[in-house]
Amino acid sequence: MNSAAPGAGIVSRPFGFLPDGQPVDLFQLRNESGFEASITPYGGIVTTVMAPDREGRFADVVLGFDDLEGYLGPHPYIGALVGRYANRIAGGRFALDGRKFVLHCNGGDNHLHGGRSGFDKALWNARPDPGALALTLEYVSDDGEEGYPGRLEAIVTYTVTSADELRIDYLCTTDKPTHVNMTNHSYFNLAGASCGDVLDHVVTIDADRFTPVDRTLIPIGELCEVAGTPMDFRVPCAVGARIDDNDEQLEVASGYDHNFVLNRSGPEPSLAARVFEPETGRVLEVLTTEPGVQFYSANFLDGQVRGKGGAAYGRRCALCLETQHYPDSPNQPEFPSTVLRPGDEYRSTTVYRFSCK
Ligand code: GLA
Repeated sequence: MNSAAPGAGIVSRPFGFLPDGQPVDLFQLRNESGFEASITPYGGIVTTVMAPDREGRFADVVLGFDDLEGYLGPHPYIGALVGRYANRIAGGRFALDGRKFVLHCNGGDNHLHGGRSGFDKALWNARPDPGALALTLEYVSDDGEEGYPGRLEAIVTYTVTSADELRIDYLCTTDKPTHVNMTNHSYFNLAGASCGDVLDHVVTIDADRFTPVDRTLIPIGELCEVAGTPMDFRVPCAVGARIDDNDEQLEVASGYDHNFVLNRSGPEPSLAARVFEPETGRVLEVLTTEPGVQFYSANFLDGQVRGKGGAAYGRRCALCLETQHYPDSPNQPEFPSTVLRPGDEYRSTTVYRFSCK
């Protein structure tokens, strides 16, 4: 799986066509040492991340599909930019400044990941900047789209750095008060996508607390200490070590699918989580400005989705670290606010940093 084209830069190629005939490209951003990420403006999806192991062998460490067609079919937000509101909003309802808003319930009784046609299904306008190894994506979400108030202008910049990082900078503005909570929904397997499950991946999360959920995966409102629970990843622990423990929170989600309350402070992105894959030595560090991260162990994958090279993506074959504000914040006044008002800016940065140990 060694990558072919030498040299740093951005290469674009046709990736496929939308049902209405619109062509969609794929942009490959590659640094001088060969680390690369490929991104399509459809859904702002990260399709490929090529990262070296401790022997210098490159492998693709994210789930995905070989062509655009795969992404147009049903799949669980693989690699996508998620918005306007990532994660769940209880009952698909919220009130803002005394006005009530109703969103589509596409995740059981709840609104999930922006609704029926969220940012993950939008064709973003793309502006590559080869000098900066950056791809800027722009999307305007109309007032009322998916039920959300306000015309939202979203700008997301993906940058590949010389330190083998994929950096994501989000910027949104609105013309009416609204809620914004964006994330990227990449599924990582550091042994290489389609290389079995991630139960041996060793995870560290810098969080003393998490937000326990009800049966529908909506936070019950408490911030619970991780100490003494299978949610304690303050010291490195294999994903599989406790995932099937007799624990109410693991049972409701069929594994890990929880928002961790990060210990972070200060305005700069700081370390939220680290993942280490012992066989290959690959390490992923996640840095963010967000107050939370959803650690999802791909419990709902069941082999139905066939990805790159026809690989069947089975249960727990990857993990997601979705940096975010806490789920259901629009209905939970005690949580950090996700309200964006006209004149203000939503700014968020997340860095996926790859290395080896
Ligand atoms: C998030 C959610 C999960 C699931 C996946 C997509 O991680 O928390 O419950 O919906 O997205 O399948």
